Amino acid sequence: MIEKGAFMSNQILAHALERMGVAEYNVSGSPLSKAYWSVTQIIARTGWTTLEQTPEIAVVLGSGLGGFEKRLHSQFEIPFHDVGLPAPGIPGHSGRLCIGTLSGHRVAVLAGRVHYYEGHDFETVCRATRVMALLGVPTLLLSNAAGGINPDFAVGDLMLIRDHLNLMGDNPLRGPNPGNLGPRFPDMTTAWTPAIRQVFKEQAARLGLTLKEGVYAANCGPTYETPAEVRMLKAIGADAVGMSTAPEAIAARHAGMRVGGVSVVTNAAAGTGASELSHEEVKEVGAAAGVKLGDLFEAVIADGKW
Ligand code: HPA
Repeated sequence: MIEKGAFMSNQILAHALERMGVAEYNVSGSPLSKAYWSVTQIIARTGWTTLEQTPEIAVVLGSGLGGFEKRLHSQFEIPFHDVGLPAPGIPGHSGRLCIGTLSGHRVAVLAGRVHYYEGHDFETVCRATRVMALLGVPTLLLSNAAGGINPDFAVGDLMLIRDHLNLMGDNPLRGPNPGNLGPRFPDMTTAWTPAIRQVFKEQAARLGLTLKEGVYAANCGPTYETPAEVRMLKAIGADAVGMSTAPEAIAARHAGMRVGGVSVVTNAAAGTGASELSHEEVKEVGAAAGVKLGDLFEAVIADGKW
């Protein structure tokens, strides 16, 4: 537990309160009060007191892409539940916050994410992202499984996310604009940080990995698309489609984080391939691509210049 008086002397909590735009005694009135609670619990677990100790990069692992956290020289492994982060409700998402170092950088891996289709609101879906922002983490790297729409994509390909289409029918920033986290009307021209994309391309080339690039369309799910919906998505400029990622990217950009991400093409989108879609296939292909995705993320983190 945090000792009395720690709020005044802990630089991370002071930073979080400053970003939230509230005094400590007013936290309960903030839309970020649950995120702040998670920050206090993470601090209680880690003993962090200064922003130099918090991670430089946070990584979100998507469906079936678990295992990346094993690459960390681990310092802390904390079940989401223990620090007030929502636990994923579907198989293949384990729900642990793993903190350690990788190639000399301080990294937090969010092993598992919660999805809008599980019935959570956007505050819950984006809470882990905002906890990272409140901890002062400047960069968020996202991964996901997606259906390939672009005819140049094959199952197992990696797609660097150049941009997204938020088709979830809502926006995580709807509602009161929390404190000093970011502007009311955030610019999304560079939602996906160009300098991070450049590093992804350079490191993929260095590793000899083929890295496609494209636009990720976020549907709310949980159904996969109909073939007609996939034709529509293609017509409006989507290269791949999934059920996550856009909310976190929006919340992170709003909070001033730099954002990068990769989709694993786990299947041909509905109506464009030979077979029907299944979560088993998505997990299998995701796991098989996990090694090359892990190599790529590790190389990008090692570079770390954006
Ligand atoms: N559609 C939506 N989400 C997905 C898909 C898909 O085809 N594959 C993996 N996640």
